[in-house]
Amino acid sequence: MSPALRGLALGLALSGLAAAGCAPPPTPGPPRLAAQARAAVLRMSPVPPPPPSPGNALADDPRAAEWGRTLFFDAGLSPAGLSCASCHDPDRAFTDGRPRSRGVGEAPRNAPTLLGAAWSPWQFWDGRKDSAWSQALGPIEAAVEMGGNRMAVVRRVASAHRERYEALFGPLPDFSDPARFPPAARPDPEGGSPEAAAWGAMASRDREAVDRVFAHVGKAIEAFERGLAPGGGPLDRYVAALRAGDDTGGGHLEPAAVRGLDLFTGEAGCVNCHHGPRLTDDAFHNLGLPPEPGRPPDVGRALGAHQVKADAFRCGSPYSDAAKCDELRYLDPSFPDFVGAFRTPTLRNVGRTAPYMHSGQFATLREVLEFYDTLPGLPLLGHRELTLQPLGLEPGQLRDLEAFLLSLDDDQPRRTAEVPR
Ligand code: HEC
Ligand code: HEC
Repeated sequence: MSPALRGLALGLALSGLAAAGCAPPPTPGPPRLAAQARAAVLRMSPVPPPPPSPGNALADDPRAAEWGRTLFFDAGLSPAGLSCASCHDPDRAFTDGRPRSRGVGEAPRNAPTLLGAAWSPWQFWDGRKDSAWSQALGPIEAAVEMGGNRMAVVRRVASAHRERYEALFGPLPDFSDPARFPPAARPDPEGGSPEAAAWGAMASRDREAVDRVFAHVGKAIEAFERGLAPGGGPLDRYVAALRAGDDTGGGHLEPAAVRGLDLFTGEAGCVNCHHGPRLTDDAFHNLGLPPEPGRPPDVGRALGAHQVKADAFRCGSPYSDAAKCDELRYLDPSFPDFVGAFRTPTLRNVGRTAPYMHSGQFATLREVLEFYDTLPGLPLLGHRELTLQPLGLEPGQLRDLEAFLLSLDDDQPRRTAEVPR
C-alpha cells in the first residue's frame, strides 16, 4: 500500500470510529493463529499416557517402575562403572550434551532424550529395536557404551537386587555353578571375544535362563521410562487456553513463537514430519545431512530394519509377553528409501538436547534452521527426501521458528531427585 493510500485507509477507519462514537482502536493483543496452525497445535498437547506395551506384562506396574529406576542409575551393571544415567542425565533432559556419546569408547551417534522415548514404536535413530524393554538391553552390552555382558548382569541382579526381582518375577535361577555359568558371557555377532566363546560353550537351556532374567531387567527399565512424560511447558499452557476458548492462548506464547508456530505448520512444512504430541511421525527420512569428514557414512534405517527383524528380543520372540507381531512381518528392510534415513526425533525439550541430529552434526538450533533453510549439498548415501525444498526464509522468520522450538521445553529440567519413583 502506498503511503497516500495508507493515510486514506487510516483516515477512513478513524472517521468510521468517530462516527460510531468509539474510543481509539485498542492496542493489538497477542497474535491469533491461522486455521491450519490452530488445528495442528491442538494435536500437539496434551501428551497422552504411553501406548500399551503388549510385550511387557509389567509395563505399568509401579513396583517394576521403581526397580527400573534403581537399575537405570546402577553403575554395577557395567564393569566400567557406567550407568544409563551416565549418558542420559536427567539434568540435561536425559541427554549428555555431546555430539556423540562417550562410554567405554566413542559411540557413533548422539544420545536422544528419554522424555517421551517409551512412547515410540521404534527405538534408536535407526529403529533397530521395536520396544523400550528390548532397547534397554543393547547399551549394557555395547562395547563402546557400558561394555558389560548379560552373564555379569544376572549375577548383579542375584547379588544386589534379588529381593525386588523375586517379588516381581518369581525365584531367580541358581547361577552359582561356574562350570555352567562363566563369570562373563554374551552373544556377539562379530564373535571372537572371550565372552562370545564362553557364551557359545554354555548349554542352550542355561543360556535361555540367563536371557529370561536379562529380558526382565529390560522390562523393569521400560516400566520406569514410561513415567518419563514430556509436557508442562509454555506450549501446553497455550493449547490448554485455546481449548478453554481463549483465542490468544492466554498469551502463553510470546508473539515471535506464535509467528514461528504459523511457519512451522505452514510455509516451512516442518509439521509434515514433526507432528502430534511428541512432534514426530515416528518414521524414517533422509534429510541429506552434510558428510562428516573422517567418519564412515551411516546407512541408518537400511541396517536397522535388518537388525530389528533378527533381534533375539523382538516382538513375537520367546521373551516377549505378546505372541503376535505384525509390524515386523510386513517390514521390508530392502525398501530403497531406508538408505541414509533416520527416525524423526521428538522436538519436546529440544532447547535442552543440543547438539542435534543423529551424530550431533549441528551445535545449535540456529544451525539446524539454517540447514533446512538452504539444504546445502547432497547426501553421500541414498537421496534427500523429495518433499524437502530450501525454504529461503528471512532471518527474522528463522528467529521466529527458533522461538517456537524453545516453547517446547518443559518448565523445569528434571532433577535426578525428581525423577518419578
Ligand atoms: C555411553 C552412553 C550411553 C549409555 C551408557 C546408555 N545410552 Fe542410551 N543411548 C545412547 C546413544 C548414543 C543412543 C543412540 C544410539 C543409536 O540410535 O544408534 C542411545 C539411545 C537410547 C534410547 C533410544 C531413544 C530413542 O528415542 O530412540 C533409549 C530408550 C536409551 N538409549 C536408553 C538407555 C538405557 C535404558 C540405558 C542403560 C541400560 C542407556 N540408554 C545407556 C547412549 C548411551
Ligand atoms: C521430511 C521430514 C522432516 C521435515 C519436513 C522436517 N524435519 Fe526436522 N527432522 C527430521 C528427521 C528425520 C530428523 C533427524 C535426521 C537425522 O539425524 O538424520 C530431524 C531433526 C530435526 C531436529 C533435531 C532434533 C534433535 O534432537 O536432534 C530439529 C530441531 C528439527 N528437525 C526441526 C525441524 C524444523 C524446524 C523443520 C521445518 C523447518 C523440520 N524439522 C522439518 C525430519 C523432518
